Amino acid sequence: MNYDRFVNCVSSRRQPSLVRDFSGQVTPDHVSFAGGCPNPDMFPFASVTVALKDGRNLKIDGDLLKKSLQYGSSEGLPELINWLKVMQKTLHNPPTWTNKPEQGGTELCITTGSQEALSKVCGMLLTNDDTIITNSYVYTGVLDNLRPMGVRFLTIESDESGMLPAALFKALSSFQPTHRPPRVIYIVPNAANPTGVTLTLERKELIYQIAKEFDLLIIEDDPYYFLQFNKSRIPSFLSLDTDGRVLRADSFSKVLSAGLRLGFLTGPKMLVHNVILHVQVSTMHCNMLSQVLVLQLLQIWGLEGFLEYTNKVSDFYQGQRDLMMESAHRWLNGLAEWNNPQGGMFLWIKLAGITDTYDLVMRKARDNKVLFVPGRAFLPDNTMPSPYVRASYSLPSQLQMDKGLKILAELLKNVER
Ligand SMILES: Cc1ncc(COP(=O)(O)O)c(C=O)c1O
Repeated sequence: MNYDRFVNCVSSRRQPSLVRDFSGQVTPDHVSFAGGCPNPDMFPFASVTVALKDGRNLKIDGDLLKKSLQYGSSEGLPELINWLKVMQKTLHNPPTWTNKPEQGGTELCITTGSQEALSKVCGMLLTNDDTIITNSYVYTGVLDNLRPMGVRFLTIESDESGMLPAALFKALSSFQPTHRPPRVIYIVPNAANPTGVTLTLERKELIYQIAKEFDLLIIEDDPYYFLQFNKSRIPSFLSLDTDGRVLRADSFSKVLSAGLRLGFLTGPKMLVHNVILHVQVSTMHCNMLSQVLVLQLLQIWGLEGFLEYTNKVSDFYQGQRDLMMESAHRWLNGLAEWNNPQGGMFLWIKLAGITDTYDLVMRKARDNKVLFVPGRAFLPDNTMPSPYVRASYSLPSQLQMDKGLKILAELLKNVER
């Protein structure tokens, strides 16, 4: 793969920071005048103890606490990187795992949530007037990153099994040569935000083939991977990636904690290194205490224990999905249509006879103390109308679901069509 073709000019000028380079090299027999690290003996914290719900405790003190409160390396805590590499190899077995960098060899770095990975990957690959391929409705964290950059969206039709490969092929084959052809596809393959749609393996294989034919990179944004209700989990784009054209963003937000801000990026070494160079001069590294805490947890659980835990989490969301579907049937029959999400936390509801949900959601529903996100928030051109609303079933109780959807039903019955 020629990765130079994909990296924009700002990113291609990035150079490793000489100062950050020293940070990984200091051993006990070095006299280091190099680092700009504060002396951790001057920090006020003596120890951190975190009690787990299973009764065990994670304790961070002594040298480990000093390390947790100190600057760390930009790619992430080495022990956590190693743990995650074993997990990615076990779950996805990327075909280019041991390849040379120029042949797509795989690397992993830790990021401040998957949001940091996404924003840095977009910032590396795209620039003003470039075109990105997406679904019609796009996660706002990516949309709102790309819009101010002047990036254009080539949206591809989807159905309940995700992006339609034939539509993708047609759009790429007939792309107007007045603009630079697209080089990047962005997809949330599982339980997408906002539509809740999960892309099938057959579609992934076809989309990957098209990406090969048109020499595209795929940004696989998969924070709901562990929230798939089917525990046999659909193979990822990363697992199909024989060329090194997939950048996969994972997240601990939906299973361990959103506030710890931990995610990780797996993909071609040459591109992941470029992201690390950007981390060096922005956040410097992901929060060390978060990394140490999660590493301790993963070490006591082991991979099997972690996966068992994620299964419990996905069971919870499946239960919530079932309650939400029941409630939707109870109140919205004949007034709306909705999908049956196979993972994640979103129900995507199409309101019957409503061209645009914006006014209903932002004014009438709000005034009645029920909150949804109007579909147009997820449209690349958010001045366009959308008949959809996104409803998250993550937090509400069954009672609240009933109360909220009943209010929506009343509003829909009274709407002037
Ligand atoms: C599709 C998608 N990608 C990325 C993110 C960001 O997640 P994180 O908390 O890992 O930054 C979210 C969060 O809601 C999301 O829905």
